[in-house]
Amino acid sequence: MSKLSVLNDARVETVLARLHTEASKQLGALILHYLPKLPGLFLGKGIQWDQTKTEFYNDKYIPIEPNQGEFLYLIARAINAKTIVEFGTSFGISTIYLATAVRDNDGGIVIGTEIVHEKVVQARKNVAEAGLQTYVDIREGDALETLKTFNQTVDFVLIDGWTHLALDVLKILDPLIRPGGIVISDNVNTFKDSLKTYVEFLQNPANGYRSSTLNLKGGTEFSIKVKEAS
Ligand SMILES: C[S@@+](CC[C@H](N)C(=O)[O-])C[C@H]1O[C@@H](n2cnc3c(N)ncnc32)[C@H](O)[C@@H]1O
Repeated sequence: MSKLSVLNDARVETVLARLHTEASKQLGALILHYLPKLPGLFLGKGIQWDQTKTEFYNDKYIPIEPNQGEFLYLIARAINAKTIVEFGTSFGISTIYLATAVRDNDGGIVIGTEIVHEKVVQARKNVAEAGLQTYVDIREGDALETLKTFNQTVDFVLIDGWTHLALDVLKILDPLIRPGGIVISDNVNTFKDSLKTYVEFLQNPANGYRSSTLNLKGGTEFSIKVKEAS
């Protein structure tokens, strides 16, 4: 991986470089997996998400890309985010970018969520290797359950778990997100059909957000909470 001068932290950057390299080794398996579904992507419909076949991903990183990670870091710094919630931690790559921002904002917490036990174990190790364990609480299990009792004000949300659950997770967090808070969501073009109602919710001003799809990776939805929903 190229330099990560935005983070400006050799220890964190070394861990991220290793994790991004390991993730890139899985690219071939992912391309083969998606091969039958690629025509949909080229026709602008996106890849059909199959919620019944998720075991394939149990050992896959499928992380955000470095430029998205730097973007997350910068936005979290810009709004002085102290409390960040992440749907879909996997091996902890996005968690590490976000926790670096929280640390550099003079402290706070990233609440991670991950349903695959082995990923939780590895993510905790990776976060510790980066020296960020003080800033991270990874909740193991279904985020729809593990976030149910969460009741702190939230500054920043990353939605990067299974797409068919994205809107349900957002609706759990929505009352907690402060005005000026940010929601960022990965892959809204790649999984266009599955995320359609989710994006429509965020792009409807009546729901209290202003939202636009950025041309980062497979479409990154960038949303700002402007007020309570009407
Ligand atoms: C795309 S990956 C996340 C990648 C991660 N954000 C990164 O950048 O490294 C999606 C993750 O969400 C997890 N996941 C899916 N459904 C979940 C649920 N209901 N609760 C918690 N985690 C879930 C999957 O196991 C998978 O590891």
